[in-house]
Amino acid sequence: MNDTSNRANQEAMLALCQITKEFPGVVALDRVDLTIRRNELVGLVGENGAGKSVLMKIMIGLIQPDGGTIKLHGEPITLKNPSDAIKNGIGMVFQDGSLVRNLSVVENLFLCHETAFRRFGLLSVRSMRAAARELLTQMKLHIDVDLPVAEISPAERQMVEIARLLWLSELYEHDNPVLILDEPTTVLADKERETLFSILQDIKKQASIVLISHRLQEIVENCNRIVILKDGKNVTEMATSEARLLKVEQLMVGHSFSADRFHEDEQRTRGEKEILRVENLSKAGFFEPLSFTVGEGEIVGLIGLVGSGKEEVCKCLAGLEKADTGSIALDGRKLPRGSPSSTVRAGLGHIPIDRRSEGLALMMNVAENVNLLVLNRLKAGGFLSPARERKNAHHWVAECQIKTPSIATLCSNLSGGNQQKTVISKWLSSRVRLLILDHPTRGVDVGAKDEIYKLMRKLAKEGIGMLIMCDTIEEDIGLADRILVMKDSRLVKEIDSSPNKKPTPQDIIGLIV
Ligand SMILES: Nc1ncnc2c1ncn2[C@@H]1O[C@H](COP(=O)(O)OP(=O)(O)OP(=O)(O)O)[C@@H](O)[C@H]1O
Ligand SMILES: [Mg+2]
Repeated sequence: MNDTSNRANQEAMLALCQITKEFPGVVALDRVDLTIRRNELVGLVGENGAGKSVLMKIMIGLIQPDGGTIKLHGEPITLKNPSDAIKNGIGMVFQDGSLVRNLSVVENLFLCHETAFRRFGLLSVRSMRAAARELLTQMKLHIDVDLPVAEISPAERQMVEIARLLWLSELYEHDNPVLILDEPTTVLADKERETLFSILQDIKKQASIVLISHRLQEIVENCNRIVILKDGKNVTEMATSEARLLKVEQLMVGHSFSADRFHEDEQRTRGEKEILRVENLSKAGFFEPLSFTVGEGEIVGLIGLVGSGKEEVCKCLAGLEKADTGSIALDGRKLPRGSPSSTVRAGLGHIPIDRRSEGLALMMNVAENVNLLVLNRLKAGGFLSPARERKNAHHWVAECQIKTPSIATLCSNLSGGNQQKTVISKWLSSRVRLLILDHPTRGVDVGAKDEIYKLMRKLAKEGIGMLIMCDTIEEDIGLADRILVMKDSRLVKEIDSSPNKKPTPQDIIGLIV
């Protein structure tokens, strides 16, 4: 008997059957089925907006479905809320995390369940600490349990959340809990990602795990089974032993991709004109004096490890921080140091890494976000003209192919990739000269990634200069015309990355570590 049929015979722990959910203007889920068996790691994949998160929120009782049933060990159940789900052995780690940042690790681990540590009516802090240490050691995590959660790394925070769920399932005596991880690896560095997967392989011996990720490679490498959703419907599922990356991508988006991922054939030579000139810019403790330029229509990749200083360079360019020395000039005009508003007015746009908290006004709608920087242009007779507002918003929604029920939809209700496109369109609408793109495709599905790449090539053709920092070195190399390498607070090398002269990732890794 092969591996798949073996597993098919195994007991279904949890089954979602024919789940339907509608929101105003969108059918988020249309009769979706999902079965979770004992001790398996299931990869849940699909484009931005496919319905993955909504399905998982239904699985933990955070959202109630319009139709369908949830069965636990074959018996239908209703999950009224997340704590109801936890009592039934189902827990979720959200992408944006749910720990209380100013409480310590041990306080977070047992929050609301401290009664488990009462002895003769008194809370035994000592036994709480001991339990916390034991839990974390099991997960090969060696952190001070008294540290506030705000002071540990994102990777450690995630581990603490997982540990909390495992402990809770033990508390409620579930021998095989279901653990849901929604895009846990998006914010992790390569090393941390490896650690997470090795821990998940261990946890799998006593739990079932559902993992959502846009890093399809890691899904194919680590999961037992892959379930693909598209437009709120089941597409197919397969054992990973039968899965090929290209096939999964194709099933997800419904079309294949050209071998030329980064559209290098559309790469063009830098225009005569210089857009950005940075001279002797420095900030003590972050980066030593450095100089470079970005030309018209040129894409420059800035590569370096976390802590190499590249993040601070970008913040200084965007005016969010003030450099100690040096100058920044856009189209030959000097920018005042440390002034975000005059930097924007001069035509320098910045798409931050954390679009949810910095790039986008989530409680405003699509049109309001797109128009945010150009309100002056949309006035008629001193007042905002609703007709002009609508026209501008419609234009950019079409141009950037933002998938939204309408321009009046709140941005918080858009999926990740479409939020990202909304941020980009806001800057394009404001007619920037130079755009800093900090991890532009983070959390974005393969199809939307491809659209963002095409959009960047188009911007380059229009003469806009770009400074990019990407999720992977391959992405930096593929997109960039030229690469700047930073190491230990210094700009150490400049590398040509024109179509036939692309460096290999190894060339670059050798320089940054
Ligand atoms: N609270 C809500 N109100 C209205 N629409 C919503 C709400 N939550 C989700 N949606 C819509 O439901 C659909 C599915 O969203 P969901 O968040 O599940 O996508 P996803 O597959 O997780 O995408 P991503 O990969 O971008 O995270 C999307 O069209 C989204 O805009
Ligand atoms: Mg999601």
